[in-house]
Amino acid sequence: MSDKKTKVILSGMRPTGKLHIGHYVGALENWVSLQNDYQNYHLIADYHTLTTNLDTTNVYDDSIEMAIDWIACGIDPVKSPMFRQSQIKEHTELFLLFSMLITKARLEKNPTLKEQIKDMKLTGIIYGHLGYPVLQAADILLYKGNMVPVGEDQVPHVEITRHIAGVFNEKYKMKDGRTIFPMPEPKITQFARLPGLDGKAKMSKSLDNTILLSDDGEAIKNKMKKAFTDPDKLRKGDKGNPDICLVYTYHKKFNPEEISEIREGCTSGALGCFDCKMKISSKISDFFAPIREKRNELEKNKNGVLEVLIDGEKRAHEVAKQTMSQVREAMKIG
Ligand code: TRP
Repeated sequence: MSDKKTKVILSGMRPTGKLHIGHYVGALENWVSLQNDYQNYHLIADYHTLTTNLDTTNVYDDSIEMAIDWIACGIDPVKSPMFRQSQIKEHTELFLLFSMLITKARLEKNPTLKEQIKDMKLTGIIYGHLGYPVLQAADILLYKGNMVPVGEDQVPHVEITRHIAGVFNEKYKMKDGRTIFPMPEPKITQFARLPGLDGKAKMSKSLDNTILLSDDGEAIKNKMKKAFTDPDKLRKGDKGNPDICLVYTYHKKFNPEEISEIREGCTSGALGCFDCKMKISSKISDFFAPIREKRNELEKNKNGVLEVLIDGEKRAHEVAKQTMSQVREAMKIG
């Protein structure tokens, strides 16, 4: 076992249905590469979905779908427990205790929250939504996470986790004087955001600008046809600017071997947008073909996927119980 194995990575996502290729590039690819070197925990943040959507009809199914996508992408649930937050009640207990360690003003300063309020045109903010990063801090610290792989938008949440860990460690210590929590670090992925098909900075289900991991070649082509490109390049022959084109960003990621030809074709006008889009569609389809195949297999055995989660929940629960008993002892409460 390498030294790194003693370091803990806590990664998590809200179950919002089938995952898209932006999730793969922004997060899953990174998770997969980290699983051999670290002790990983993969959290399905089902409680967190309630902060922006009180309709719980799909939470269970969405959680299973997300686990399917994770496993299909190469996350090994035997190595790294995969679990639903709601199945481990210690999350709620630690959330409550942590909520005493941070001010409302500090939470209101969170830029990710401000962005959500603006994007979702919220007129008031639900108490639990304001406390979103406090629950996330409980998720991370319950497993004594040292690292949290995240996109840029999540960095403010990890900062709040660090703040809470600092306040807790300062106030409460174990009998032997040691502190309980590590100071987790965010680990940002290089390609933290894959742009959406509409040219928006981020692929996102709510913006309806995604390519799903489950989309086959045909579906990808059809979606790609509608993708935004350089608005000044109207037809083949027109010179384009690849640096403002989202399709070019996809080429950079999924077709690096042809990137200079694509750039040259676009800037000279020799390559039309339609051909460029068809080229990248097949590249993306090929890239995700093995993942699609695996996820189709898993779809046929959803009970098996549930078993995987139940097993992960048992293992995660053991760790959560230990942390909470340290917390209760240090705080002399509960
Ligand atoms: N906030 C994360 C997201 O929206 C999900 C999440 C919840 C999370 N708890 C976490 C991520 C703990 C990392 C660690 O994607």
